[in-house]
Amino acid sequence: MPKSPFPARLPLVQAPMAGVTTPELVAAVSEAGALGSLGAGYLSAERLAADLKRIRQLTPQPFMVNLFVPDPEPQFSADELNAALTALQPMLNDLQLPRPTLAPPYAADFGDQLCVLLEEAPAAVSFTFGLPDTDIMRAFQAQGTQVWLTVTSLEEGEQAAALHPDALVAQGRAAGGHRGGWQADALAPTVELTQELLALGQPVVAAGGLMTPGDIRRALEAGAAAAQCGTAFLLAREAGTSAPYREALEGARRGGEAAMTMLTRGPSGRLARGLVNRLAAVDTVLPYPAQNALTQPLRAEATRQHRPEWLSLWAGEQVAELTGERSAAELVRWLTSEL
Ligand SMILES: Cc1cc2nc3c(=O)[nH]c(=O)nc-3n(C[C@H](O)[C@H](O)[C@H](O)COP(=O)(O)O)c2cc1C
Repeated sequence: MPKSPFPARLPLVQAPMAGVTTPELVAAVSEAGALGSLGAGYLSAERLAADLKRIRQLTPQPFMVNLFVPDPEPQFSADELNAALTALQPMLNDLQLPRPTLAPPYAADFGDQLCVLLEEAPAAVSFTFGLPDTDIMRAFQAQGTQVWLTVTSLEEGEQAAALHPDALVAQGRAAGGHRGGWQADALAPTVELTQELLALGQPVVAAGGLMTPGDIRRALEAGAAAAQCGTAFLLAREAGTSAPYREALEGARRGGEAAMTMLTRGPSGRLARGLVNRLAAVDTVLPYPAQNALTQPLRAEATRQHRPEWLSLWAGEQVAELTGERSAAELVRWLTSEL
């Protein structure tokens, strides 16, 4: 099968980060010659369409959009809901909130999101948390949209490669945010995983802990087609990172305890890496995405009250290497300066 060309001039992808990647960030990265990407996993179809329109107003350059492949709707008992709420009681007390109510649907409609993307045809779509059906993949590829599949182990890579994607995104252990595959215990180092996956004969995009020009050069030297950086863009001026989140990241830049990350299911019910805080310590949770829907209004209120201890502070293991607030274009120039 012919390999699809990487859709940007520079082999750097600004990682999709649901809740953080604004149209302004995506457009600024793509304008600077790398591949901007929109984390659209939580967006309604209407909001997704509006964000794509805005990106296109800002740049004619190619960009990527990421979606979460849904699991079947989670089932849980009233007792389990009660236990999850009890675990969140200190947060409710602290923020002076009543117990929230919870009703399905717990996530945006995947079918509606796909309809928007098939119509809008971005340069690439990437999928996380699972594999899309082959007919979905072929529909995108037939219209010239590349399909990238996120994996966290060789076994996941083999299953993904059988679907003939345009690239595999190798998410290593250090990565900030949710584990992007479906094997929660797959925690290989990024460069090792990248090299293992190259044996499958697909282009591999390396993700996880790539924070500096040297990290990116080494990932490419190891055979990656591009480096995908998330945490490195969290303090970009155009990112949607909230004020209390930025403050926690500024603290992490000073290193030490403030830069410690952990894997947690507290905020969403799905394993993710972020800075250690009180919400990350919550370990009685509903299955994803019900826990995410349960904590979402609480986290929004914590943002309003400027209480970083009750936020999902997703960040990769190398967060202490963050540079300070800069424009996305400056970051792209710096990150690619050793290529
Ligand atoms: C705040 C944040 C949100 C993220 N959201 C998504 C997402 O919506 N979809 C996705 O595929 N990956 C998401 N990720 C993971 C990134 O795609 C990528 O794997 C990770 O950022 C790479 O590791 P690094 O953070 O050390 O650069 C997120 C990461 C962060 C830090």
